[in-house]
Parts: sequence; C-alpha cells; structure tokens
Amino acid sequence: MHLSETKVIVTGAARGMGRHFAIRLHEAGARVAAGDVDVEGLESLPAAIARRRLDVSDEADVGAFVEWAYQTLGGLNAAINNAGILRDALLVKKDRETGAIRKLSRADWDAVIAVNLSGATFVARDAAAKMIETGTRPGVIVNISSVARHGNRGQTNYVAAKAALAANTVTWARELAPYGIRVAAIAPGMVETPMTQGMNPKAREALVAAIPVGRIGQPEDIWLAVKFAIECDYFNARTIDVDGGLSV
Ligand SMILES: NC(=O)c1ccc[n+]([C@@H]2O[C@H](COP(=O)([O-])OP(=O)(O)OC[C@H]3O[C@@H](n4cnc5c(N)ncnc54)[C@H](O)[C@@H]3O)[C@@H](O)[C@H]2O)c1
Repeated sequence: MHLSETKVIVTGAARGMGRHFAIRLHEAGARVAAGDVDVEGLESLPAAIARRRLDVSDEADVGAFVEWAYQTLGGLNAAINNAGILRDALLVKKDRETGAIRKLSRADWDAVIAVNLSGATFVARDAAAKMIETGTRPGVIVNISSVARHGNRGQTNYVAAKAALAANTVTWARELAPYGIRVAAIAPGMVETPMTQGMNPKAREALVAAIPVGRIGQPEDIWLAVKFAIECDYFNARTIDVDGGLSV
C-alpha cells in the first residue's frame, strides 16, 4: 500500500514514536487520525492531522474513535497500534535492608495489560471490523511490540503484553487474510523517547552499552520498519525486531 493512499489511525500519537509516525505519514501524503490520552500533546501536532482524545483501554472510547476516524478521513485502511505504558517491577523482590518481600502489584499488572494488550486488541478489532463492514481492501494493521517480547527482567507485565501482541499478529493475520487485511508487528529495542528518557540514567547507560551498533535507537529507525510494513504487500504475520542487535 502506498503511504499516500493510507487513511490511518495512529494511537499514542501525542509524543515519542507515535508522534513521529503520525508526522512522517502526514508528510508522505497519508490522511492521519491521531489518538492519545494526552490532549495537550495532540494539540501540538501539525494542523492537518486530525486528532481526538483516545484511551485505548476503554472499549467504548475505541469504538467511538474508530467511527470518528472513518468519518473524518473519508475511509479507513490502516491502523498503527502504538500506545503503550510501562509499570516496571520485579515479580518478587526482597529488600536488602529490611528483608521485606515486595510483590508485583495487581494494579501494575492490570494497567499494563489494559493499555498494551487489551487496548491494542480493541483497536485492531474495531479497525478491522470497519474495513470489513465497508468492503475496504487492502488494509493493514501494524502492532508496535517490543524486544521485551523475548523476556526481560523487571517487566513481567510488559513482556506478557508485548509477547501476546506478537503472537496475535500471527492470529489476526490468519483470521483477516480472507478480507485482504495484513497484520504485521515491529519490535523496537531501546529508542530515545520520553518513555526511555525517564529511566534511571545508570540503567540506561548500561543498556546502551550492550547495543551492538553502539547507540540508542531513534524514532526514525523504527519508522523505516513501520513504513516497510505498510508498503510491502507481501509482508504479513511477522514481527521484526529493530533493536541494533540488542536481543541477539
Ligand atoms: N521507547 C522504547 O525504547 C520502546 C521500545 C520498545 C517498544 N516501545 C513501544 O513503542 C510504543 C511507543 O513508545 P514510546 O517510547 O514512544 O512511548 P512514550 O511514552 O513516549 O509515548 C507513548 C504514548 O502513548 C500514550 N498513551 C499511554 N496510554 C494511553 C492510552 N491508554 N490510550 C492512548 N494513548 C495512551 C501516551 O500518552 C504517549 O503519548 C509503545 O507501545 C512502547 O511500549 C518503546
């Protein structure tokens, strides 16, 4: 699919990678509907990008957003499932000084699953339903997973969501192929965005030192893969790790 032909939803588009994808798509001639819980961030997007508050973890909100995007863009043939959050914690941790045992909280588990997995599922489901209902083809859904999908210390909730998203990229690609809809995923390594800028500087430095290409990723590095996933009509059901070699 040519970028200029896409009528595309981008979730989590107020900042970071989602914002970069929305701007790049707009520059390439796509019609873009940007959604995020951060309304202020959305406001600073270029004026030609349609925007609306969206909480992907709220099923009814996703339904209303998809309908709005379809009406506003005059159609819908693509969605980028990018919204995501972190609530990092070890499964169980013993405090060195007090000996107290701290367990991963139910709230942190639920919050990450609600946004990163349920949210992405609602968006994929409702966007695909709209494409099928309106006989739109071809269509494409791009899921933003993470190299954490292979397993990562301190990220039980995030790993579970991102691994499930990669696995369901296969499920949805198989289920939606008869309707001419492809589903693909990109799994970024460590990328410079507000999400990683908030990390402990020491932990961040150690992680960057372990990246074979010797630098942190930039949103543009991930955009090149998203662009490929949209444009290549033969790319389907797979997840590409774009991580500078971090996960090998
Ligand atoms: N930065 C990295 O190193 C990295 C690595 C691998 C994967 N990822 C994934 O890439 C995606 C983008 O990450 P980023 O680094 O740009 O993060 P970010 O925190 O900078 O931006 C995420 C955006 O999602 C929005 N968001 C959060 N909850 C939402 C909700 N319920 N509904 C709608 N929007 C919501 C936030 O407001 C924010 O604008 C995420 O899915 C993240 O898990 C990031």
